[in-house]
Amino acid sequence: AKVRHYKFDVEYFFKSVDCVERLVMGINGQFPGPTIRAEVGDTLDIAVTNKLSTDETTIHWHGIRQYGTPWADGTAFVTQCAINSGETFHYRFKVDKAGTFFYHAHNRLQITGGLYGSLIVDLPNGQKEPFHYDDEIILLFSDWWHKSVQEQDVGLTNKYENFRWVWEAQSILINGRGQFGCSLGANFINHSLPVCHFKGDEDCAPYILSVLPNKTYRIRIASVTSLLSLNLAISNHKMVVVEADGYYVQPFTVDNIDIYSGESYSVLLTTDQNPNQNYWISVGHRDANVSTTQALTLLNYNIIPASVLPSSPPPVTPPWDDDKGRKDFAKRFVALKGTPKPPKYSNRRIVLLGMQVLIDDYLRWSMNGISLEFPPTPYLGSMKFNLRNAFDWQDPPENYPQDYDIYSPPEYDNSTLGNMVYKFELNQVVDVILQNANSYVLNATAYHPWHLHGHDFWVLAYGEGKFKDGDEKLFNLENPPMKNTVAVFPYSWTAIRFRADNPGVWLFHCHMEPHFLVGMGVVFAEGVQYVNGIPEQALACGLTAEMLIDKGHDL
Ligand code: C2O
Ligand code: CU
Repeated sequence: AKVRHYKFDVEYFFKSVDCVERLVMGINGQFPGPTIRAEVGDTLDIAVTNKLSTDETTIHWHGIRQYGTPWADGTAFVTQCAINSGETFHYRFKVDKAGTFFYHAHNRLQITGGLYGSLIVDLPNGQKEPFHYDDEIILLFSDWWHKSVQEQDVGLTNKYENFRWVWEAQSILINGRGQFGCSLGANFINHSLPVCHFKGDEDCAPYILSVLPNKTYRIRIASVTSLLSLNLAISNHKMVVVEADGYYVQPFTVDNIDIYSGESYSVLLTTDQNPNQNYWISVGHRDANVSTTQALTLLNYNIIPASVLPSSPPPVTPPWDDDKGRKDFAKRFVALKGTPKPPKYSNRRIVLLGMQVLIDDYLRWSMNGISLEFPPTPYLGSMKFNLRNAFDWQDPPENYPQDYDIYSPPEYDNSTLGNMVYKFELNQVVDVILQNANSYVLNATAYHPWHLHGHDFWVLAYGEGKFKDGDEKLFNLENPPMKNTVAVFPYSWTAIRFRADNPGVWLFHCHMEPHFLVGMGVVFAEGVQYVNGIPEQALACGLTAEMLIDKGHDL
């Protein structure tokens, strides 16, 4: 095992990522940030310097458990102080599992701003994947907005009369490239847009997937959208799904694949079609009331030029309200033999009802009536040093009123802002039922991809309506897939199980940034007394803080 050193300078620069010049938050002048590649057992040592003149930041390593290094999880207000402009924070942690991961900023709307990149962990030399492939391609999907992050943030967090929903993304990006105002598929799909013409060296020229005939490619896919739920399809080619969030699954074949923000997959693609033509790669969204054009690029067999457009139309993204298709897809995932099995019983069950509510004239999301608002002091240090005034130490609610009607807008709501923590015994087995309900307006609901930090969980079941006693019999305890992000469907529930075996403080939240920003998350903690070696920089900032810490405490 090696120690791999990276130096990340986070900064703003101008770039035409979708053919329109805007500010982007990037790393070392690159957008998306550099791809990190390591082997299982390696230690990553990443010095992140914040050169954004206007923002504090942190970087989260999405899918890495941070076992023993909870302070390196990169969640502002939870595991560390945000890195001030001009300061450097050293993340140092072990990657303990192979898979397709990514990293992103974890403060305010900085994913929306473009601060992300891929993180791939390979098996140690000599070990083999349970499937064969000749080569691989990495695809990172995101959505892109022309309105500044600051304007979006203020629009979401102001009083209701000033509330401005972000509405729709201007573009969908494939590896940081999109096309606004033109479409490669304009002749087929949208007569109001011109066809794009590229020389190939433009910032917004599509990322071409170039392949050789009669090979098998592992395509690693991850979505780090701010908001959109996406669907990928490739003309004339099937995909075999083999990995989800860093775990192998029983392979299954699909024509298209849904991917929500925070998820990652590997699919195998065999290049067995006519090599004398190019094929569409389409990434469309599945959101209601959004007209963002599908992102298109080409699969090119390296025989004809990559600029030749296919003569047939690109795949059509399934409609947003195709609930059944989305659920059927989610339910096809079964763990590959050899994946850890869940404990037969849990010691604790938390049912979390997500509600969109008005609190003191602010539009917020709440979970069991609590809308998460971070305390100014990060939880990890507060809990470790038992600072009783740093946040509300009461236990948050484990359930919601049983007569609550999930099919109507929240009528009366006693939701409040809060910052309580669900505290687990170390090694406790915890079930969480995520309950979806009607949003603030009648007949409106949303899909929410929930992501857990510090743990992977078993996805035990997806169920319809309201979760009720007895629904445990729907749980798959035999071969449930393990994931770190899972979708909750409209008027439905999703059940997960995990072992609280990682001392630290961990976020569990909707990965849609505009939802999380206004409270759609909860905080979990276990065994914080066993956490040692929290760096001073995570607890406080600047040299004066270090000086005071040196004088006062022996950490
Ligand atoms: Cu990828 Cu808390 O997020
Ligand atoms: Cu959400």
